Amino acid sequence: MIERLIPAGLVGGLLACAADAPPLPLDAHSLARPDHVRVQHVSLDLALDFSGERVHGRATLTLDRSDPAAPLILDSYRLQIESVRAEDGSERQWALGEDRGRLGRALTIQLEDGDREVSVTYASGEDAEALQFLTPAQTDGGQQPFLFTQGQAILTRSWIPLQDSPAVRVTYDATIRAPRGLTVLMSANSRNGPTPVLEEAPGSGSSDLWRFRMDHPIPSYLIALACGELASHDVSERCAIIAEPGVLAAAAAEFADVERMVQSAERLFGEYRWGRYDLLVLPPAFPYGGMENPTLTFLTPTAIAGDQSLVSIIAHELAHSWSGNLVTNATWDDFWLNEGFTVYFERRIMEALYGSDRANMERLLAWQGLEQEIQQLEPWQTVLHIDLGDHHPDDGFSGVPYNKGALFLRRVEECVGRAALDRVLGEWFDAGAFEARTTDQWRLFLLDAFPDLQSKMDLDEWLTAPGLPADAPRPQSSALSKVDDQLLRLREGTHPADLDCSDWATSQWLRFLNGMPEGAGAQTMAQLDQTFGFGETGNNEILFAWLRLAIQERYSAMDDRLEQFLMTIGRRKYLKPLYEQLCATPEGRARAEAIYERARPGYHAVSAISLDSIFDGE
Ligand code: BES
Ligand code: ZN
Repeated sequence: MIERLIPAGLVGGLLACAADAPPLPLDAHSLARPDHVRVQHVSLDLALDFSGERVHGRATLTLDRSDPAAPLILDSYRLQIESVRAEDGSERQWALGEDRGRLGRALTIQLEDGDREVSVTYASGEDAEALQFLTPAQTDGGQQPFLFTQGQAILTRSWIPLQDSPAVRVTYDATIRAPRGLTVLMSANSRNGPTPVLEEAPGSGSSDLWRFRMDHPIPSYLIALACGELASHDVSERCAIIAEPGVLAAAAAEFADVERMVQSAERLFGEYRWGRYDLLVLPPAFPYGGMENPTLTFLTPTAIAGDQSLVSIIAHELAHSWSGNLVTNATWDDFWLNEGFTVYFERRIMEALYGSDRANMERLLAWQGLEQEIQQLEPWQTVLHIDLGDHHPDDGFSGVPYNKGALFLRRVEECVGRAALDRVLGEWFDAGAFEARTTDQWRLFLLDAFPDLQSKMDLDEWLTAPGLPADAPRPQSSALSKVDDQLLRLREGTHPADLDCSDWATSQWLRFLNGMPEGAGAQTMAQLDQTFGFGETGNNEILFAWLRLAIQERYSAMDDRLEQFLMTIGRRKYLKPLYEQLCATPEGRARAEAIYERARPGYHAVSAISLDSIFDGE
């Protein structure tokens, strides 16, 4: 839970934005008042301090002042503010407001007439949620430390003082000082190589300056940085795979289709507008599967399976270059506009590149997962246009905005036809390019394009009611039906070695493991392991499903494998279910607590915060 920050009288008020654009609602997750003074450009001059685990330096903000009497209000989370100065170097008064928990504190800066720019000198504080500093032991190379940032949803305020709302877009430039030998990358369309810093203070070690520019206006959650020992492999003129040197060959082979994916996406949704599309494979502590930082998608190394079977993550992050990065959810209540559209597009790209059998398997697996998840969630969390109220955006994070969101578009497709929907989606992206949009705006846009849509699908139910509407189009997959046939045979006593499962794809194995009956028992598990070698698989999706089942069926031969997994991989999507499954029994819980105590320091704050609730919960 977070505390509400907007004065009661303003809740539900409207924030004026660009003159010709419709007004946007106030963002309950930002303390900023961009309706009074709006930040347009952020210029960063920062040093990365690995030993102090902080960044420090200056952020210079260019302002658009629609209310000349109003102060500038920024978001900040545990930032150590040193001073605020105007363009001529004279100081400006500033104050940090009340501590609002994970929302942070408002930084209010008194402006004088004529101030068009202010510079904040600051350092990030302890437990900056956006920053994860990794020890060399957490990297593949084992020699150098690593740093990456994660901005979404409201974490950027923990390393940059700015207006941390998805409805406020900025361009940015950055000069970053980093230890020599490490590479710095940012989500920028211009990235210059290192310039040596000549005059060093004695004993400070040598460092390089790296320069970046992002000329397209982006929301703050997409400002991203990574620094470590990195190497790069060009796939095409505009696409490269970047990873630690020891991971690069495997990553480059796995993601070799990236240029083909961009071309396929362009055919579907129109020109790719960001210049480069590079993939940065991070160390395994990265808490997400992927993050769509513009020009530079951040990726988990767990997506490397050896057979390109998990590349739907790339299709997904790439699709965000339209849904999310070009047209952005105006508030975190509209998060489904980012993720639901993106999952819909992800599957369209997968279909175009790898055929409808593969896409339909992924659709049906997601449907099955969604049905189960809806049972576990509170009703308010299953509404597409969610009302987060006083909740942190993370409390609304589930498969609902993703997969119910994608089903919404599948249902529209069913009603109006694919060609018509594609045309309208293209128009949506063109009309809203580099702007924020609300769910209500989408609804109006859709009804304008298809005036009789409401008679075919109940838009109110889809957008505002909990659960899955009865007309949600259930995906069909004969490949997954074959798996269900074999599951039935297994249940009837057939030995795993006699099952008919040659040439199964990853999605089929996932269906198999997820469809295993509860109470199969350790003996069946041992037979399965001997026959299929699940414990040895290099495919982390399969391994995850297997480990979860192993905990449930008390198959203790997997204990070491599980512990190793929990100690090295930081992906929240895997960690949470595994710890939850462990906590289902008292012995398992004791084991989970012991592992968690050792593993937690290596987890990113977003994973650690989610997991703490499992252990503090009871
Ligand atoms: N933008 C999300 C990740 C995210 C969402 C971070 C909300 C913080 C807050 C990203 O595009 C995403 O959805 N990643 C998925 C992978 C995808 C294939 C479904 C993930 O990390 O699991
Ligand atoms: Zn996404």
